[in-house]
Amino acid sequence: MASSNNTTIKDHGLAHGLGNGHYVDPDVHELENQSVIANTWASIGFAKDVPNRGDVMPTTLAGQPLLIVRGSDGDVQVFENVCRHRGMILVEEPRHFKSAIACRYHAWC
Ligand code: FES
Repeated sequence: MASSNNTTIKDHGLAHGLGNGHYVDPDVHELENQSVIANTWASIGFAKDVPNRGDVMPTTLAGQPLLIVRGSDGDVQVFENVCRHRGMILVEEPRHFKSAIACRYHAWC
């Protein structure tokens, strides 16, 4: 039993933690976004966040602005939260829409 504890202590003595850059460097953060988060599925919210048809909730994932929407059919879907014209953010805060979401600048999309 004592040798098992010694092995554990020895392993911790050899272990190295992540460097400070992994916590504060924006380049490391971007690399993690692209290499880990963008390549797999991720939970970005809950269906309860958009309880009623027409409810929308903006969020971000790996720097990408997204919009969680409960559509008129009751299904929850996620879209990019940007205008196709000039990339403006479509919805800034959670809210309810009674009709289609339109960009507030030119209402082209
Ligand atoms: S910027 Fe959105 S429609 Fe023109």
